[in-house]
Formats: sequence, C-alpha cells, structure tokens
Amino acid sequence: EKIHNEIFDNSVEASKIVAWEIAELIRTKQKEKKNCVLGLATGSSPIKVYEELVRMHKEENLSFSNVITFNLDEYYPMSRDNKQSYHFFMHQHLFNHIDIHPDNINIPNGTIPFDEINQYCIDYEMKIKNAGGLDFQLLGIGRTGHVGFNEPGSHINSGTRIITLDHITRVDASSDFNGLENVPKRAITMGVSTIMRSKRIVLLAWGQNKAEIIKRTIQGEISSDIPATFLQNHPNATFVLDKSAASLL
Ligand code: GLP
Repeated sequence: EKIHNEIFDNSVEASKIVAWEIAELIRTKQKEKKNCVLGLATGSSPIKVYEELVRMHKEENLSFSNVITFNLDEYYPMSRDNKQSYHFFMHQHLFNHIDIHPDNINIPNGTIPFDEINQYCIDYEMKIKNAGGLDFQLLGIGRTGHVGFNEPGSHINSGTRIITLDHITRVDASSDFNGLENVPKRAITMGVSTIMRSKRIVLLAWGQNKAEIIKRTIQGEISSDIPATFLQNHPNATFVLDKSAASLL
C-alpha cells in the first residue's frame, strides 16, 4: 500500500486531527508572514473539519486573514444562491463564520456562459499558480472514485475544466436535489493535475458505503478508471478513515 492511511474510531475524532493540522499550517504561515493557500472540498465528509475550524476561530483566536481558498468544484449550471450550490455550502459551513477576506475565496462559478468556460478554467488555474500553489488540499471521494468531480476517464494531466457527471454520482446527489432529474448533468472541477500539484493532500472517507472504493483506491492498480488511484503517486497524501471506511483493507 503506497498511500499512508490513518484509521480512527470515528469521524468526529478524525476530523479534529485534520482541522488541527490545517490550523497549524495557517499559524506557521502567519509567523512567516506568508499566505496559506487551501484547496477545499464539499460533500458531507469535510463538514466536521469545518466545524472544528470555526470553533478554533471563535474560541482560540485562529485567524484566517492570511488564508486564500480554492474550492475543488461546482455544479454547472448553478447559481450561487441556490441551496444546492457549493457556493452556498461553503458559506454556510465555513466562510460566514470566520474572518477570511471575501476576495480570498475562490469557488468555480457555475453561472459562467458556456462559451467562456474554457478561458474561465485557464484563469482559475493561473490564480492558483499566482497564489503560490496549493499548500494543502482537502478531499472527499465519490463512489465512482472521483476526487473533486474528476470522474472515471479523467486523465492524470487534466486541469480545471467542465465535466459530465457520472450516473452514480448523480444518483448519490439526487436526495439533495429532490430527485435525479433535478441534478445538474455537468460540473466545473479542478483537474487531477491541479490536485496532484498540492504540497499536501488529505482525503477523508467515512462509513461502510465508502469501504469498497477505498479498498480499490488504495490497493488497486493506478488507472483513470478510478481517478483517486493517482494519489498513490503523491509524495505527501494521507487517507484519513473511520473504521467502517477502512473495513475492507
Ligand atoms: C461530491 C463532491 C466530491 C465529494 C463527493 C463525496 O461528488 N463533488 O468532492 O468528495 O461528493 O461526497 P460525501 O462527502 O458527501 O460522501
């Protein structure tokens, strides 16, 4: 097994450890008078990490004044104020509760006109580069083996782009959208190469229904059939799992 795993009794404990690592990185960068560039994820997996970061902001003076964030993905098309948007999710769970400067928040824009998406994605990559690259990337994993929305077939060299969502991904999202027919068919996502360039990667997976994909990701052959397997080649990636997600390892 090439990826380093850490297995915890439960996701609450695990999420705190991850949040503390992020807080430590922010504080270290603050002391060096540098920005801290975080790649952030949505979905249910990171919610408790954000909760702990908010608690540290409120109770332990953790400041996000030097933090620049880039979110992995957004549905397309999707308006910002839609409750299913990742824009809404991030503000609800994190940004509304911390002292991050609004100009330092970057989330792919689900309202960009279709013919401007390619340029928009090139600019998103450039913005990450100009910020100094990602210091830390938080990830969840979809049952298809996607990270961000890099569905099966995603190339190791892929950058930020528009992608067609896998059927399984849309089925998994259908309860959030009150039915499959309401789930967007596409999304804008950072690419595999965008994620792989992050200096540090932490992937979170909780629960029995992630056990199969976690096994295939960690123990399987590296292939674009399961884009998360590319993480096996990252020099500083850790999978943080609860016992159920790790149960088939
Ligand atoms: C969505 C997101 C992914 C996320 C995945 C798993 O597809 N685009 O970034 O990892 O869902 O979601 P959850 O954490 O709710 O299991």
